[in-house]
Amino acid sequence: MAGGSGAAYRALYRSVLTRIDPEVAHHWAFTGMRTASRVPPVVPLLRRAFVETDPRLRTRALGMDLAGPLGLAAGFDKDGAGVEALAHFGFSFVEVGTVTALPQPGNPKPRLHRLVEDRAVVNRMGFNNSGAEAVARRLRRLRAVPPRHPVGIGVNIGKSKVVAEEDAPADYAASARLLAPYADYLVVNVSSPNTPGLRNLQAVEKLRPVLAATRAAAEETSHRHVPLLVKIAPDLSDEDVDAVADLALEQGLDGVVATNTTIGREGLRSDPAAVAAAGAGGLSGAPLRERSVQVLRRLATRTTDRLTLVSVGGVETAADVRERLEAGASLVQAYTAFIYEGPGWARRVLSELAASRSRRETDRV
Ligand code: FNR
Repeated sequence: MAGGSGAAYRALYRSVLTRIDPEVAHHWAFTGMRTASRVPPVVPLLRRAFVETDPRLRTRALGMDLAGPLGLAAGFDKDGAGVEALAHFGFSFVEVGTVTALPQPGNPKPRLHRLVEDRAVVNRMGFNNSGAEAVARRLRRLRAVPPRHPVGIGVNIGKSKVVAEEDAPADYAASARLLAPYADYLVVNVSSPNTPGLRNLQAVEKLRPVLAATRAAAEETSHRHVPLLVKIAPDLSDEDVDAVADLALEQGLDGVVATNTTIGREGLRSDPAAVAAAGAGGLSGAPLRERSVQVLRRLATRTTDRLTLVSVGGVETAADVRERLEAGASLVQAYTAFIYEGPGWARRVLSELAASRSRRETDRV
């Protein structure tokens, strides 16, 4: 059934969704998911169709007990408006954000483009979000009611566009203070290509005060240990990946999310005119896969189990998820494959992952 729904979605995608502006399509798809999830008799139907509950997938990471290792990457639910709905589509955890201390509209539209032949997307959204206060209010309401279907909630924070680089530590700290009480884990995002100068903060001397201020603010308001991670770009050199890993260890961070989108455009199949028309921004999806795995392996070697690694970038299949887990990731995230493959995607991947686990166990006996 899940395979059939995948083929139907792909046909719908080719014939209808590729003709609609991608940001409009995202808006309507997400609105549809949230609306369906608010109708109580529909929820069990959604969960039966889209949630894989095989106990072999159960995962414990970053203090969360999760139904599985697969989460939805940051950027889909920027305002924390549909975490529970997304759980009904098979994700065990959702990384909300990027949230900034100040609300901001993001870059002018159009700012989201598909490169269908590459199973990729180019975005230059620019952290459009309703700001830390509004998102904190929404998450507080969500947390006030014991969840019927638990889902892990990460919160990814970034620098407000109007804030100068030297004021970044205070700006991240302001978001952390508001959001940490409602987060299962916090991510310091210094790797989006769409906020001018943001990625400079990956340099160790600039990153150190940002991480220290964020951690202090998070612990001060939440009165508990909130796991703190940093999200890095695939465009860092290997030496810079090592330097961030060393800093994460030095600062007592809990983990690294690798990777964000790339500014590179090498090796694409799409017509160069289409790539040029998509313009500046971060490329995600299948072309990211190889570098994302390289960065993961580098981090795993460097940190030898002392950090929790969350792997993201070009994950499309159960084999991809397995590869990341075997390479040292505790958790895996995706975004672009969900756009291309539709609502049944997480279930299909997780069912295959569970089946492959039982095959392996049988092989071992
Ligand atoms: C993103 N991504 C992202 N990451 C982040 O840390 N903060 C953000 O606000 C966003 N926004 C965003 C918007 C859109 C439209 C896309 C496609 C992606 C990056 C995302 O979380 C992930 O790191 C990359 O997309 C790589 O994973 P996939 O898409 O190849 O599975």
